[in-house]
Amino acid sequence: MTKLKWGMIGGGEGSQIGPAHRLGALADGRFEMVAGALDHRPEVGRDYAQRLGIAADRAYGDWQDMLAGEKTREDRIDLVTVATPNATHFEITKAFLEAGFNVLCEKPMTMTVEEGEEIVKVAEKTGKICAVNYCYSAYPMVRQARAMVRAGEIGKVRLVVTNFAHGHHGDATDADNPRVRWRYDPAMAGVSGQFADCGIHALHMASFICDDEVEKLSADFASTIASRELEDDAMLNFRMSGGTVGRLWTSSVAIGRQHGFDIQVFGETGGLRWASEQPNQLIYTPVGGRTQVIEKGEGGLYEDAQRLSRVAIAHPEGFPLAVANIYCDLADAIAGEVRDGLPGAADGLRSMAAVETAVASAKADGSWMDARPPMFR
Ligand code: NAI
Repeated sequence: MTKLKWGMIGGGEGSQIGPAHRLGALADGRFEMVAGALDHRPEVGRDYAQRLGIAADRAYGDWQDMLAGEKTREDRIDLVTVATPNATHFEITKAFLEAGFNVLCEKPMTMTVEEGEEIVKVAEKTGKICAVNYCYSAYPMVRQARAMVRAGEIGKVRLVVTNFAHGHHGDATDADNPRVRWRYDPAMAGVSGQFADCGIHALHMASFICDDEVEKLSADFASTIASRELEDDAMLNFRMSGGTVGRLWTSSVAIGRQHGFDIQVFGETGGLRWASEQPNQLIYTPVGGRTQVIEKGEGGLYEDAQRLSRVAIAHPEGFPLAVANIYCDLADAIAGEVRDGLPGAADGLRSMAAVETAVASAKADGSWMDARPPMFR
């Protein structure tokens, strides 16, 4: 099998998400890394790319050079990953889609709803894949949860409760650290801090498992560290189009919580619980019955969960392999096999609509507001 050619923008040495993309993309031998503009400092990026084995002529100094260089090559990349800071996603993603490349963009896909709608339109027009890295949705046991909901194993979903609350920005004496401060500065982060950073993962997960979309929401935002302009804690109530009641808490000041992402789905005949810190187990309770632990890799899982379980039962599979599952689905999609679990530009746009709506609702003392992107109303 010929390997697909893959390039990355951002994700340079020392970055948070870069290693997960490299481990994920290369895990199954379906992609090879042949191009990159990995750092905002051209020389540093070129040097690192070559140390990763990329040929000198494809170790680019910036994304514009990479676009120009790749566009004209016969062996151009099949997929580019955009793993730069948020404010650059729109421009880079749009330019690569327009030039006919498939893109995997980090979340949040854009900074505004207008930009999100434009990406959806460009992806439709060009026919290229625009995926968004909601990688938690690619854990095998999250796929199992969605398949169980779809199969009616917990009945009609009444309630979904999700948290993405950690404590890593809870130290007020570290609030001025540049790596922390930018996240709460509107000039760098946009209209929302913690909700746009982590809350949208939780909201996407709620939609993903419930197989439904958020219709309206009410939000309460707080900056618990007073110097922060943007929120470091948020609580949302929401309703999905099928009537499911949703609750979401996201925080970066919840000291003692580590990754802090979990979700519970309560249906008429059962409940499910999944947590990112124990990703290989799905907890299932049928109404009136005993609580059961469903393990990744055990027999009888739904096809999507089985397909994406890599190592034998009881061996932990973690974050990079969830990212690898996104790349697996992308490789299939590039080969023409549509995977409906792959998060796309519409999901990225829905998140931006939720962010802008939550900001507006919080400013209006939690008024309920339509959270759907205008183009999907
Ligand atoms: P980071 O600050 O740790 O690293 C950013 C990297 O991008 C650095 O190597 C930097 O030199 C490079 N860079 C910046 N501007 C660039 C440009 N114009 N061209 C090329 N390279 C450039 O940031 P981090 O935490 O890795 O986040 C990157 C993106 O990934 C963000 O959008 C973030 O929201 C997202 N992310 C997603 C996660 C997920 O679970 N899906 C988890 C962590 C981050």
